[in-house]
Amino acid sequence: MPIELTWLGHGCWLIKTPEQTALLDPFLDSSPTAPCKAADVSPDVILVSHGHYDHVDDLVPIARRTGALVVANFEICEWAGKQGIERTEPMNLGGGIELPLGRVTLTPAVHSSVLPDGTYAGTAGGFLIETGGKRIYFACDTALFGDMRLIGRRRIDLAVLPIGDRYTMGPEDSLEAIRLIDPRRVAPAHYNTWPPIAQDASAWATRVRRETSAEPVVVEVGGVIKL
Ligand code: NI
Ligand code: MN
Repeated sequence: MPIELTWLGHGCWLIKTPEQTALLDPFLDSSPTAPCKAADVSPDVILVSHGHYDHVDDLVPIARRTGALVVANFEICEWAGKQGIERTEPMNLGGGIELPLGRVTLTPAVHSSVLPDGTYAGTAGGFLIETGGKRIYFACDTALFGDMRLIGRRRIDLAVLPIGDRYTMGPEDSLEAIRLIDPRRVAPAHYNTWPPIAQDASAWATRVRRETSAEPVVVEVGGVIKL
């Protein structure tokens, strides 16, 4: 069975492996583009990159209902714990943990992070997921940074990069990020959720093909990438 990634809009992805299903950055009920509601997903694991509401909005309700394991930095796990979420795996940048689905490492990101109620949320991160012999790098909300080259030293099968601009890197910097990471395939995220982050993904894909050695994979919201 292949690994299946479904784009649930914005920075939210459902990652299905033979062992477990993970939900990254749950933002469904308040998302203008999500194809489903928080009540429709039942992950085993919830991965959270940072504290902004467009990444944690449905975290507590989904974790409460499903008992999913919350994987995030220490501060976000503490915050979830105070709301009655008992199953957490606190981490910090550079650290990894072994889960039934594979190894999950919290990677650096250049971005801010605070929880919706003002609680300090630690440092924003991304995730490197090693599952079924594949490596998937979710940069999550970030600017371009030179150490992406180090993340790419171990062959990345799929990189998921923000292209929305304004709150994260935009299309131009994402091309430089692709050159640093040198993944086999690359998918865009964190765009077209609202007008301030509107982007033309097919124009981006044309430039990726022309200017990098990665294969662009653009899916509509609700679309699936198989690895
Ligand atoms: Ni953010
Ligand atoms: Mn965001």
